[in-house]
Amino acid sequence: MKIVMLGAPGAGKGTQAKRIAAKYGIPHISTGDIFRANLKAGTELGLKAKEYMDKGALVPDSLTLELIMDRFNNEDCANGYVLDGFPRTIPQAKALTEALEKIGDKLDFAVDVDVPDEAIISRMSGRRACLQCGGTYHVVFNPPKVEGKCDACGGDLILRSDDAPETVRHRLEVYHEQTQPLIDYYKDEGIFERVDGTKDMETVFEDITNILDR
Ligand code: AP5
Repeated sequence: MKIVMLGAPGAGKGTQAKRIAAKYGIPHISTGDIFRANLKAGTELGLKAKEYMDKGALVPDSLTLELIMDRFNNEDCANGYVLDGFPRTIPQAKALTEALEKIGDKLDFAVDVDVPDEAIISRMSGRRACLQCGGTYHVVFNPPKVEGKCDACGGDLILRSDDAPETVRHRLEVYHEQTQPLIDYYKDEGIFERVDGTKDMETVFEDITNILDR
């Protein structure tokens, strides 16, 4: 099963993508996590990506496409994947469609986790992220068992540098301008589905699995 998660920054794409990956036995591929892991490791790609991420801008398509196409060659993608944060622009979506067409394949679902902007800004200030394993928590809605520590790997939890309210506002502008057009793109492909992301995490997951299991 090949799934694309759509939605604004902070809508809960990552939270739901991790659960989908675990339930359906497919890898969760997050371009944001890959960029952050590269930054932590001090690679050239990570340093280049940081310039854009810290401003809330998108990393150029050329860098992102190279990275993701390479990731698809991993053996774990043989039975599909859930993409989180990619594609994020129409050129990225077209590149993905073309790459799949070349191997006679296509996406199965594009799932939009829909949350209004006002709810996102308050959500993001409470998010805490693990830089070690990519785990995501929320101080109120999904707190870790031990404050400041990741349940999965024990890593330190941080407030992401791009989660400051003014950066989140800019990320939302970028989303509306460059990523929201993907909704029509995937409607045209006949694979678009929308879930209400303001519901609690369990209910959102149930709504998504009801779609995927149809
Ligand atoms: P990326 O890491 O992809 O960030 P994003 O898309 O902005 O999404 P987030 O990770 O911020 O949010 P999310 O929707 O996954 O929400 P989460 O589940 O954490 O990208 C970061 C940057 O990298 C970009 O700005 C860009 O610069 C660059 N980049 C990445 N991919 C790129 C690409 N393809 N092209 C170019 N540049 C790229 O949830 C948010 C919070 O809410 C958490 O605290 C969570 O616990 C909580 N929460 C989740 N669901 C619920 C719920 N139902 N109720 C209450 N709280 C909830």
